[in-house]
Amino acid sequence: MRGVLRDRLLFSLIAFFLGLMVLAPPALADEAAVKYRQTVMKSLGAHMGAMAAIVKGQVSHPDHVAAHAESIAAIGRMAKDLFPAGSDVGDTGALPAVWEQPEEFAKVVADFETASANLVATDGSDSAALGAAFAAVGRTCGGCHQKFRQKK
Ligand code: HEC
Repeated sequence: MRGVLRDRLLFSLIAFFLGLMVLAPPALADEAAVKYRQTVMKSLGAHMGAMAAIVKGQVSHPDHVAAHAESIAAIGRMAKDLFPAGSDVGDTGALPAVWEQPEEFAKVVADFETASANLVATDGSDSAALGAAFAAVGRTCGGCHQKFRQKK
């Protein structure tokens, strides 16, 4: 009897998850991918903004530098996953060029990943080196946005 109940429960669970897959059409998954990309980009912008305040000396948090740099570099490693095929739908600011010029796009993604890894590798107590590495990351934002993101 126990076995039968267990089998029924298992069957119900499988049926439930199959049902979920049918109820979540690809279009919704694509829109979720857009939203996810925008959310990650926002957090990237927030870390860059926070770090800018430190680099410019507006606030003094030398012990926060490494954490911001590591967060930025972590997003640098994610960047290549943020533009799956099909995520060119709905309310996106990504231009079709992302998918139409994959080689050029891969290059700006790699530039960002490299610059953000360099930022982590920079000695945070050397403010000139830190400023230069930070500015180099900033240029890679523009390098991608200019070609691959809609102008506001
Ligand atoms: C490889 C390309 C690429 C790089 C590198 C890149 N971005 Fe973006 N970013 C985009 C695209 C494309 C969008 C539009 C995304 C969308 O709307 O689907 C975007 C959107 C944004 C947004 C708006 C998010 C929202 O919808 O509210 C911010 C903020 C942002 N990026 C900040 C940055 C910063 C800061 C950097 C550099 C540290 C950076 N990005 C690097 C491609 C890039």
